[in-house]
Amino acid sequence: MTDAFHRLAVGDEVGIKGPLGNSFLDKIDSRGKDVLVIGGGIGLPPLRSMIHHILDRRADYRDFTIIYGARTPELQMYKGELAQWAKRSDLTLLQTVDVADPGWKGYVGVVTTLFNKLKLDIPNTVVYTCGPPIMIKFAIVELVKLGLPDKQIVSTLERYMKCGVGKCGHCCIGHKYVCTEGPVFDYGEIKGLAEEAF
Ligand code: FES
Repeated sequence: MTDAFHRLAVGDEVGIKGPLGNSFLDKIDSRGKDVLVIGGGIGLPPLRSMIHHILDRRADYRDFTIIYGARTPELQMYKGELAQWAKRSDLTLLQTVDVADPGWKGYVGVVTTLFNKLKLDIPNTVVYTCGPPIMIKFAIVELVKLGLPDKQIVSTLERYMKCGVGKCGHCCIGHKYVCTEGPVFDYGEIKGLAEEAF
């Protein structure tokens, strides 16, 4: 798709099909709960509109924490918004990178290394995550160890899609159609598919 975009000129037309599938907040209503968002790399854009939704209705939610990991500071998405979120007193933002540069003031290491900084109220916490499959896999392993129930762990599954409407089978993981049943699932729904999914 990006190759095709680069062949376009100003004024060319692009067709867009969508929106398709479900959303994070469709999957579980986290109003009245603590919310933990775990994003990795370009997993932040799909989470961002949900983050804005929660910030716009901040009083409906309890503690709100975002953990964002990127490979390097340079590869962070939405740097301007991260700076604004970092200043908010009603949101805890923990930022980490795999490889720091001299100006980096956040943490260094994978997102799961920050879990020991969290004080989770397990029965009343909902986790939403999106990012590289390997990050999601290890985040879920740690969240399960902490005692988070499957239904309270909500994640995207990543698949190349073709039709987007459940006809071609291109997006299937096991018996799940990621395009129509997802792309957001709770861990209970994808547990048996974990090896294939991540
Ligand atoms: S993309 Fe065709 S069935 Fe999902």
